[in-house]
Amino acid sequence: MEIINKNLIKHQSYIDGEWLEMLDGSTTSIYNPANQEKIGDVSSCGIKEINKAIEAACIAQKKWAKVPSKEKSEALNRLYLLMLENQEDLAKIITYEQGKPLLESRGEILYGAAYIQWFAEEAKRIYGDIIPGHMSDRRTVVIKQPIGVVGCITPWNFPSAMLARKMGPALASGCAMVCKPAPQTPYSALALAYLSKEAGLPKGLFNVIISDAEIFGSAILKSSAVRKLTFTGSTATGKKLLKASADTVKRVSLELGGHAPFIVFDDADLESAIDGAIAAKYRNSGQTCVCANRIYVQSKIYEKFCEGFIEKVKLIKTGNGLDDDTDQGPLIDENALIKTKKHVSNATELGGLIALGGKTHKLGGLFFEPTIIKNSNDKMLVANEETFGPVAPIFAFETEREVIQRANNSPYGLASYFYTRDLAKSWRVSEELEYGMVGLNTGIISSEMAPFGGIKESGMGREGSKYGMDDYLEIKYISIAGVDD
Ligand code: SIN
Repeated sequence: MEIINKNLIKHQSYIDGEWLEMLDGSTTSIYNPANQEKIGDVSSCGIKEINKAIEAACIAQKKWAKVPSKEKSEALNRLYLLMLENQEDLAKIITYEQGKPLLESRGEILYGAAYIQWFAEEAKRIYGDIIPGHMSDRRTVVIKQPIGVVGCITPWNFPSAMLARKMGPALASGCAMVCKPAPQTPYSALALAYLSKEAGLPKGLFNVIISDAEIFGSAILKSSAVRKLTFTGSTATGKKLLKASADTVKRVSLELGGHAPFIVFDDADLESAIDGAIAAKYRNSGQTCVCANRIYVQSKIYEKFCEGFIEKVKLIKTGNGLDDDTDQGPLIDENALIKTKKHVSNATELGGLIALGGKTHKLGGLFFEPTIIKNSNDKMLVANEETFGPVAPIFAFETEREVIQRANNSPYGLASYFYTRDLAKSWRVSEELEYGMVGLNTGIISSEMAPFGGIKESGMGREGSKYGMDDYLEIKYISIAGVDD
């Protein structure tokens, strides 16, 4: 990888403040999805090293919990500044291993750093309560304390920001972490581990493990010392982790799959709805769990919306994310390509009209054309499953009641979007949509200041905002007796 600060490139797990030497010689090669060129080999570790990281995290956590919140805040702020200082290199690492365009990678670094900065501030605001005593001699005090050691599993689609947004609240609240990045994208997490050391975070507090998912999962889930698991990834894996967490009754935060409806009512500002749909659909080549998956357009404006949408999507330039003029990079791997193709062919078999794209891009490899499918219907796979690719199916609808019913007809409940200029409808639809997040007249909803998370099978818990800290805290109440004279 061609970057300036070569120290950011690490190939080994980071455990108890040290870069682990390769123990058994087992390595995994990491490839750039844009051209399949190998970008490096990382060494995998096994159960012994994972347990060592858990032990180190236990020791570090006990000390860290006692560090004054102002000092925790200062350490996190140093990390925040280091992320900004190294923004360009960190962004390049993302693009090399994940494929997204550099512009988006730069944005991802700022996005992740914003969570670190936000929680650095929140560290100083972990307030408790005083509750009126239930007897005349009693006083009741509520304090909040860190949960303890947190096991953390992060995805490949935002290899830096998804880790940063777990790391911010975990460390700010006084927890320690043992983290495993996705196998496709280890380098962004290892770079954050390097910066955590530079920022002066104590050894053992933040550990990054390169390991097989099964081995890591089972070590973390079996350990009664690990009190919480936080996971971002697929609903299928999230369900397995949730079940397996029962044996040690861990607190679990899950940020899982989505199947976002994007509704355009006929009174919407059309230009703004088109721009919002493009932002919500094609960000990261359609590989985000908040991507618009089902675009519902009211029948009166259906053709006009499609015309404008097609014109603008045509301008998206697909290519290697490292090239300055690229708007859309490759898909992450062969499986992603296969799924995207399957969704498109199923849609055409069931009456969909390919209005744009629809096939592998002429660049070949893992590149897929930005695609639009008109005349989409509810029987298609695209109407029922997350595509995780650059495919926009457009459905027509007649009434508000009908579209809400169709939008809610999904086991998922992460993000949803709608466009209208009607105030009453804005309230009604916002309340009716069974989703953890609603974008009203916007296609971009993510921010460190807002509670990111889903309902139904999209997960549990919230990341970011003042609510994000609660996921890492236990409530303790102290009943003080004998206060009477
Ligand atoms: C995700 O796709 O998991 C996160 C997207 C975001 O934070 O905007």
